[in-house]
Amino acid sequence: MSERSGADGSPPAPHAAVAAAPAPHPAPTRIVTERLVVRQPRPQDDAVQAFAVIDAERDRLHRWLPWVPNIRTAGDEQAFLDRVVGWWEAHEQFHWLVFERDTYAFVGSVGTARVAWDQGLVELGYWIAQAYEGQGLVTEAVRGVQRACFAMGFHRVEIRCSSGNTRSAAIPKRLGYQLDAQLREERIEHGARVDTLVYSLLRTDNAAEPGTDPPRGLRVSDAGRRQPRIRRIICQPEPRQRGDDRRRGP
Ligand SMILES: CC(C)(COP(=O)(O)OP(=O)(O)OC[C@H]1O[C@@H](n2cnc3c(N)ncnc32)[C@H](O)[C@@H]1OP(=O)(O)O)[C@@H](O)C(=O)NCCC(=O)NCCS
Repeated sequence: MSERSGADGSPPAPHAAVAAAPAPHPAPTRIVTERLVVRQPRPQDDAVQAFAVIDAERDRLHRWLPWVPNIRTAGDEQAFLDRVVGWWEAHEQFHWLVFERDTYAFVGSVGTARVAWDQGLVELGYWIAQAYEGQGLVTEAVRGVQRACFAMGFHRVEIRCSSGNTRSAAIPKRLGYQLDAQLREERIEHGARVDTLVYSLLRTDNAAEPGTDPPRGLRVSDAGRRQPRIRRIICQPEPRQRGDDRRRGP
């Protein structure tokens, strides 16, 4: 669903049958895939270009993303990205920005819409600039992020979308998610009652490819695996210090 639902701050619901919540593993701040760099936002550097896409494609994005009208200026976007960094440090929510690896061009975003550490559950959302649609870039970014989620200790990755959003639904389908449910008229979208599709991928599913990723500081070569779209994924935390090189590109 929307990748900007934000942290609601509510305490985790107790559940008698569930084992103790795993200690949160840090989210990788940088994931490199075959064509993309998927990284933690740098609010000051990124707000203007992210806002430029949101502003130019307002109608197209708002068709499916309810938060779009809240972003009226680059300052609004920077304030959101600042919150993202805060949520990240608190292990509450994670939003990655996606850049083309070769050109450093801003492409879009993949982020969490819901994080339930106590349930081992994370829900992902995404959007991409129109110029980059139709190339499999979101599928590639989501594959990298879901893999990171499993390495962080999550058991279930969920993707929810409106039943009318066929481009969005195609992504979990392409990645081998299971359709768990079609929630009838679960929400109102632009004045119409619409169904929600709920897709899931479990860490134990064959399509999950959780690999043997340790939770942080890692370099995983997938060269020998049968993965058609990603030859190699590197997940490594961003250096803590900000240097000039961090401003040159993703
Ligand atoms: C939903 C959205 C993210 C999907 O973007 P997308 O570009 O269609 O998704 P991908 O980047 O994975 O590209 C898939 C397409 O690339 C094609 N493709 C080309 N090369 C590919 C490759 N190497 N791997 C996979 N697919 C590839 C696929 O066949 C598919 O094309 P098709 O739509 O003609 O079948 C995008 O339409 C969007 O931002 N919509 C507005 C916001 C939104 O709805 N967000 C989701 C809310 S739930």
